[in-house]
Amino acid sequence: MSKNKIVVGCQWGDEGKGKIVDILAADADIIARFQGGANAGHTIVVGDEKYILHLIPSGIIHAGKICYIGNGVVVDPFALKEELDFLAEKGIDYTGRLFVSAAANMVLPYHKLIDTIEEKSRGTASLGTTIRGIGPAYVDKVARHGIRIADLFAPERLKKKLDYQRVIKERYLTGSDDERADLDRTCNELMKLADLFRTLAVDVSLELQIAHRQGKSILFEGAQGALLDVDLGTYPYATSSNTTTGGALTGLGIGPRMIDQVIGVVKAYTTRVGAGPFPTELVNDTGEQLRRLGDEYGASTGRPRRCGWLDLVALRHAVRICGVDTIAITKLDVLDEFDEIEYCTQYELKGHRLNQVPLDLADFGQVKPVYRSLPGWRTDTTGITSFKDLPSKARNYLNLVADDLGVKICLISTGAKRLETIFV
Ligand code: GDP
Ligand code: IMO
Ligand code: MG
Repeated sequence: MSKNKIVVGCQWGDEGKGKIVDILAADADIIARFQGGANAGHTIVVGDEKYILHLIPSGIIHAGKICYIGNGVVVDPFALKEELDFLAEKGIDYTGRLFVSAAANMVLPYHKLIDTIEEKSRGTASLGTTIRGIGPAYVDKVARHGIRIADLFAPERLKKKLDYQRVIKERYLTGSDDERADLDRTCNELMKLADLFRTLAVDVSLELQIAHRQGKSILFEGAQGALLDVDLGTYPYATSSNTTTGGALTGLGIGPRMIDQVIGVVKAYTTRVGAGPFPTELVNDTGEQLRRLGDEYGASTGRPRRCGWLDLVALRHAVRICGVDTIAITKLDVLDEFDEIEYCTQYELKGHRLNQVPLDLADFGQVKPVYRSLPGWRTDTTGITSFKDLPSKARNYLNLVADDLGVKICLISTGAKRLETIFV
């Protein structure tokens, strides 16, 4: 029986999904990305080699695995080309094993320009987007004038669609001296990529169904995290896609029964990049220490990540909205040096104690965390590969998290490298 798993982030992204997907990919035939775009930065470390992937599924590092980019992903064709060149440089042969949905919408240079302009115009209320054009590309998709991969193979249609963009995006494009506003240039550059994309474009939904019927196992790779979900995250401080499990169904064209197990990735503390509420954020020496020990700088943008203690209230929400069956806890080793480890079990809002995130997510910015704490283990856990070898205080912390969330732990990560992993 095939066992198809989905990996989703349970916080605000950067939980270590890339590492977890890479590990689980060893036992899968196929790895498929279903949403987001080049805003993602998924890191995989194998020995001395480090790979940061943005659009290409983290399974590509394993020779022979088939990787798909689904229709729910907004694909920047130029960024994808760069990523392919990066893989080639690293000696990874992707020919015949990476495919992209012909129905995926493209992120084009003008989307990045618009992302930049909109962020500026928001002023102090800017979202802190990655400026990868993600929001504007999803806006076009939903407004039904997006440009898809399939349009690359119909030059007349592509030109017509770009001409329409010229009309509807006039206020951003006309008179701009930014080269990203030059649609003729974009059209020419796109045409140069058409041959490459002809070798990559397929009907991902159909291919997955055929593979599934043949008994192949599929690993679905989420990007970002549940709390960035456009519907159920900390909107408007969110990304523009459904980062939760449901996103895989629409983002790949599959039915719910094709997913056997939902794995939520939980960092042993919390980080967030960009603006928006973050109840357990530590703007103090402890926060700095987490950033330093966890090397918390964006894999895509290099921005310092905001850091804080684990937030069980937010995680309860994430586990529910993703239907998480089991969790993979990452970066346990980053907590090794702390005398005391705090974790948030409730929020306080207007004199009330809350066990769940507030009904109106806008109130999220007003809540105060209620903490409990455990003594730290103050032992180096880096590279430990067996649960019983962990210090008992670390095991207590992990068990407490799993019990609170009502899920089992399937995996614990004790370092960035592939082998620094405990299978529970
Ligand atoms: P993703 O976006 O969820 O794939 O996560 P990122 O790759 O953006 O960020 C996770 C970072 O933590 C990367 O630099 C990883 O190499 C690193 N990492 C992953 N797991 C561990 C771990 O268990 N311990 C440590 N110290 N680093 C880890
Ligand atoms: P991975 O897959 C962390 C954040 C941005 C910003 C908000 C909206 O590596 O976990 P966007 O560019 O999507 O419109 O930005 O979402 N964000 C991420 N934060 N990890 C990511 O991806 C992210 N992708 C987007 O920082 O706050
Ligand atoms: Mg990341």
